[in-house]
Amino acid sequence: MFSSAFSDFSEFVSNTTECTELQLEPFKPEFTYPIFGEQETVFGYKGLQIKINYASGSLKTYLNISYKEKFNGQGTNDTGVLEAADIKGTLSEYLPSDVLSNYDEFIRIVQEDAKTFKPLGEKMSEYKVETEDGDEEQYEIYRTTFSNTKFRSYHDRMQLFALLFIEGSSYIDNEDEKWEIYTVFEKQGQNESAVYHFVGYCTAYPFFCWPENIRMRISQFLILPPYQKQGHGNSLYQTLYCIFTTRNEVCELTVEDPNEEFSNLRDKNDMRILRDQHAFQGLQAPVPEEKIKELQKRFKLTERQIRRCVEMYLLSKLN
Ligand code: ACO
Repeated sequence: MFSSAFSDFSEFVSNTTECTELQLEPFKPEFTYPIFGEQETVFGYKGLQIKINYASGSLKTYLNISYKEKFNGQGTNDTGVLEAADIKGTLSEYLPSDVLSNYDEFIRIVQEDAKTFKPLGEKMSEYKVETEDGDEEQYEIYRTTFSNTKFRSYHDRMQLFALLFIEGSSYIDNEDEKWEIYTVFEKQGQNESAVYHFVGYCTAYPFFCWPENIRMRISQFLILPPYQKQGHGNSLYQTLYCIFTTRNEVCELTVEDPNEEFSNLRDKNDMRILRDQHAFQGLQAPVPEEKIKELQKRFKLTERQIRRCVEMYLLSKLN
């Protein structure tokens, strides 16, 4: 085990998930193992802090690595000679090439970008959220592809969030212009002076479906921690469902490796859609195969998801 191997120098071992802080407002990553390895630890620093700050709209990135003491001594363990890890080098593989290391310059850019940054791509929808004190917040959803070269740079900045928050995710090919990327922004103010803050995003890929259709697959779906559990996941999913299923060529909406939280969100929203459209009217067990096929075709959900929803409906009738 990594921890016992370094037991003589345990003060120099840092848990990388604990000591990394992402800041729009400060929040912690969920995982750091895609970057720092399975054990999520680095050796060689006392009091290590890794700060990754983002401009809240443009996502211009500032990296600061600080520590109280760096391991400079001699030592070995059963994995070899001990030396302090190259944290900046390791992180640089995952951060955008234009990452800033000068804090004053970063602050200057944050202030400038707050005035000038506008979301890239085509606005697809907008929604409002009422806060507890009765104010209204505005949100907008944009669609982009990698054919927009400015967006490629933007995606270079936002893709780290997928590694840090979606278990098992990896970077997608930004040369492939078939990817569709949907971004969610909070909009403060109106018209030209509106300021935008990044909320979350979803990537989706169109797969060919024989003989002449497309199966749209949601790949990465993420709402940043400061915005979670406020209904944004629901709004993004509903917008995507509406966009994809109203395209004639799309025959099905699928999801790549959904986790439990996403499956929950998907089930709740699919059930709302099916109920609103009276899909379950007169439905009783056992449900004929033709009915499953009919619902699947009409609502463009996978067969498995339709069966799941039908089962949930039948169970809800029993209770
Ligand atoms: N556990 C259980 N239920 C949840 C959770 C949770 N952690 N989060 C939200 N829900 C439920 C809510 O109760 C809500 O139900 P309701 O409609 O009856 O009120 C519904 O799911 C949606 O809630 P939202 O507030 O709209 O969800 P949120 O904006 O927080 O987004 C998401 C949920 C996407 C899972 C978000 O927490 C997130 O990005 N997490 C980190 C990344 C992640 O796990 N992404 C999904 C990976 S799978 C994939 O990418 C295909």
